[in-house]
Amino acid sequence: PLQDPLVDITTAKTLEDPWSIMLVASEQAQLMANLAKLINASKTIEIGMYTGYNTLNMALVVPESGQVVACEIDDEYVNIAEPFFKEVLWSGKVVDPAPDDLTSQALDKLNKKLHTDQRIDLSMLTVGNGLTLAIKRYR
Ligand SMILES: C[S@@+](CC[C@H](N)C(=O)[O-])C[C@H]1O[C@@H](n2cnc3c(N)ncnc32)[C@H](O)[C@@H]1O
Repeated sequence: PLQDPLVDITTAKTLEDPWSIMLVASEQAQLMANLAKLINASKTIEIGMYTGYNTLNMALVVPESGQVVACEIDDEYVNIAEPFFKEVLWSGKVVDPAPDDLTSQALDKLNKKLHTDQRIDLSMLTVGNGLTLAIKRYR
C-alpha cells in the first residue's frame, strides 16, 4: 500500500462513490509506482483518472521537477480529485467484449493496436482488471 495519508483520504472519499469499483487495485498502483521508479520516470500521463488515486500515486514517485498529467472526461470525478491534488502539489471481460460493452471494446481495440506497434515493447499483465505496459523503443 502507498505510504501517504492523502492516499487513505482519497480512498475513503472514493469508496463513497457508487462507481468505486473503478478505483485502481492497490497492488496495481504499487506495481505502477515501482515501474515508474525503476525507469526514473519524470513525466507520466494518466488517461482516465477517476478520483485520482493512481495520479496521486505517480505524483508521489516522480521527482519534484517532474510532470504528472491526468485526463478525466467526467467533471464530477475531477471535482473530487482536485482538493487532493492541491494538497499534494507539491474484470477479464476485455478479451471477448460484448457488442454493447463499449468500454471493453475500446480497450480491446487499443490493445490490438499496441500489439502491432513497432515503436514499443509490450507486456500485458493480469493485475487487477488487467494492466498493459507499453515501453518506448529507442532503437
Ligand atoms: C477505471 S477508471 C480509472 C481508475 C483510475 N486510474 C484510478 O487511479 O483509480 C476509468 C476512468 O476513465 C474515465 N474516462 C472514460 N473515457 C474517458 C475519456 N475519453 N477521456 C478521459 N477519461 C475518460 C472515466 O470517467 C473513469 O473515471
